[in-house]
Amino acid sequence: MFEFLLPFFLLVLFFFVLFIIWRVKARKYISSSTVASAYDAWTQDKLLERLWGEHIHLGFYPLGKNNIDFRKAKIKFVHELVKWSGLDKLPKGSRILDIGCGIGGSSRILAEYYGFNVIGITISPAQVKRARELTPSGLNCSFQVMDALDLKFEDGSFDAVWSVEAGAHMNDKTKFADEMLRTLRPGGYLALADWNSRDLRAYPPSIFEKFVLKQLLEQWVHPNFISINEFGNILSTNKNSAGRVISENWNFHTNPSWYDSIIEGIRRPFAILSLGPIAIVKSIREIPTILLMNWAFNKGLMEFGVFKCRG
Ligand SMILES: C[S@@+](CC[C@H](N)C(=O)[O-])C[C@H]1O[C@@H](n2cnc3c(N)ncnc32)[C@H](O)[C@@H]1O
Repeated sequence: MFEFLLPFFLLVLFFFVLFIIWRVKARKYISSSTVASAYDAWTQDKLLERLWGEHIHLGFYPLGKNNIDFRKAKIKFVHELVKWSGLDKLPKGSRILDIGCGIGGSSRILAEYYGFNVIGITISPAQVKRARELTPSGLNCSFQVMDALDLKFEDGSFDAVWSVEAGAHMNDKTKFADEMLRTLRPGGYLALADWNSRDLRAYPPSIFEKFVLKQLLEQWVHPNFISINEFGNILSTNKNSAGRVISENWNFHTNPSWYDSIIEGIRRPFAILSLGPIAIVKSIREIPTILLMNWAFNKGLMEFGVFKCRG
């Protein structure tokens, strides 16, 4: 009897310890410096880059099916957002600001493939260092440490402003929109993708959904989520936005990324194993959050919002 119960207890103990580590080591948002230190750590331990490549965002799956390589789906995402937002209408040499640029995955595609002149900014010094290392000399693409809520650029400096999956880290979404639209020239293009919640005022969350949202906020340094409509309204009522703001929910196209991001670890086991035992523990630690993200986006509690408008 005891022999039968022992493995069961050990398994329960294992998951209990994992849960405690997961909760105790949660990365709660306190200020933008907590976001900076989280991304510094994610960059310096190299785990994210080895596993997911140079793009820290979801992939685009045309048929909503997980039948293309995760890394190719991420590159496809950049091209799809360029096409959808109209950035491809801009001539070569156009000035683009990539807000929350990570280690420069999108910035380099915008510079290399579309011939744009790109400046990427991120709150994480380690990301800027890595982005510079990854960028070939001669490419019109540079990186700076800067807070998106306090951009050090003149009004109307850019022909387009691009931001992918950074807004959910901003505690003041209105200021985020103000800064993006202030630095965009009149007639310029805004292209934005972000993680949103469904409209929680119109459709209040259940107790379980509240628990899930709390984990999604506290595990990956998010201060708050707002709905696609709420952010669309913030953009459209801004004094620097001209005309209509168009938004869509791309859950169908991006949801396969969640399982794929776990499967990447199985497809490329040496990416983790070569970084040592701590990297294995660190990667296991992210799995519950990825599974909760997958659940929330599949249930529609979370929505992958894309937004476009003109300055
Ligand atoms: C999920 S990553 C996306 C990175 C990149 N856009 C990509 O797609 O690969 C979020 C990015 O937003 C940046 N970020 C978060 N808060 C920021 C802030 N207040 N100012 C500037 N960057 C910020 C992070 O440093 C990180 O680079």
